[in-house]
Amino acid sequence: MDKLVVTGGTRLEGTVSMSGSKNGCLAIMAAALLGKGETVLYNVPSIRDVHTMVEVLRSLGVRCDYEDNGLLRIDATEIECTEAPYELVRRMRASFCVLGPVLARKGYAKVAMPGGCDIGARPVDFHIKGIQTLGAHLVMDHGFVEAECERLRGGQIYLNFPSAGATQHLMTAAALADGVTTIYNAAMEPEVVEVAKFLNKMGARVEGAGTSTIRVEGVRELRGTEFELLPDRMEAGTFAVAAVITQGDVRIENIRPTDVKPFVLKLIEAGAVVDVYDNYMRVRCNSRPLATDIVTMPHPGFPTDLQQPFGAMLSIAEGTSVITENVYERRFKYVSELIRMGADIKVEGRTAIINGVPKLTGAQVAATDLRAGAALVCAALAAEGESEVLGVEHIERGYENLVEKLQALGANIARVSEEQSLTDCELAAPVSS
Ligand code: UD1
Repeated sequence: MDKLVVTGGTRLEGTVSMSGSKNGCLAIMAAALLGKGETVLYNVPSIRDVHTMVEVLRSLGVRCDYEDNGLLRIDATEIECTEAPYELVRRMRASFCVLGPVLARKGYAKVAMPGGCDIGARPVDFHIKGIQTLGAHLVMDHGFVEAECERLRGGQIYLNFPSAGATQHLMTAAALADGVTTIYNAAMEPEVVEVAKFLNKMGARVEGAGTSTIRVEGVRELRGTEFELLPDRMEAGTFAVAAVITQGDVRIENIRPTDVKPFVLKLIEAGAVVDVYDNYMRVRCNSRPLATDIVTMPHPGFPTDLQQPFGAMLSIAEGTSVITENVYERRFKYVSELIRMGADIKVEGRTAIINGVPKLTGAQVAATDLRAGAALVCAALAAEGESEVLGVEHIERGYENLVEKLQALGANIARVSEEQSLTDCELAAPVSS
């Protein structure tokens, strides 16, 4: 098992640039299946989830090439295969969202039910109901969803919760439908707005993205296009927490001010000094953070993805903080690991009560999901002594060059592979006679 070895206690200082948005990228890659001709995406992060999505598109017989400079070429002129296999979809929930576009293009699609981070039940019922509303006939059997429809037709969709994934998926499927689709109680995340912009650049007619009602007027055909991905606001939030938790001073470049607002205001409440400019922000803090309460909500509320890193930060805050998690029921798994580092946190249902302690101590901890991993890395950066964070593969799903970026800010962090640790052990082992 590979791990991150972190020696805490160093103030982070310097400049770091944010990569392209993971969540935006995955949804846009699925939407690119609608276009005939080449789509070129810029600012694409080299992370595991993106590489998994590349494999998913290739498994559909679509040409998909990632170039090292963050450029991704997708040519879906031909979709040769209409089935997305379990082996790929179980690795990442977002890959389920190829169902709608493949169905819209080919009249048939078969996609395995998804996997992904273990943070709650995470059903796909909104996706399924929405695709049915667009006129498809669906069968769920043997762990697969099979969908059939000669041509999707517009319909009225109401989401019981403003799901980001369902909004992106249904908006995408509706772009090639016959007639008008309206999605009510739609998610308003910036990544939803970007998918709408991308679809419109391909020739679609989507209006209202960024509000709770989205209207999609279906068109007959879409074409490939060029598109630059938005910066990753979750990565920005993670680095902001890393700056505050180490009482550092970090300039975070490649951000969009409106996207970072919900968590910036919370950082300020927690005693950080945050200056936000057009495309960068400076985050500094020269004392322990202050306790503050957090309630996660769909955008523009506080993002659930940053609940875990903020939980790490508040574990060393002065005073008691309460976190209420409204989006996922199992997003407090990282708490037991923080407790191993000396945190004082009680979880009751969807609430965590955090009594801030003056310091954390280094320990061996395990990440159970992507953002839990980010939280544990932040905690380790602040903790006294050495920590080992296991479960690196979760962290690498969503953070590009995390170790290198933190090292450039002065952090004492290294990635150690299983082979390396074996070699270290062998070297360290006493010679027996
Ligand atoms: C996306 C993000 C994820 C983020 C989440 C919430 C991607 C790849 N991932 O996930 O990082 O944490 O938004 O901001 O973009 N739900 C249902 N039925 C459905 C769909 C969702 O009940 O069919 C529920 C979920 O269980 C959850 C809530 O709706 O409780 C929100 O989930 P959703 O917004 O869909 O999350 P994702 O799009 O999967």
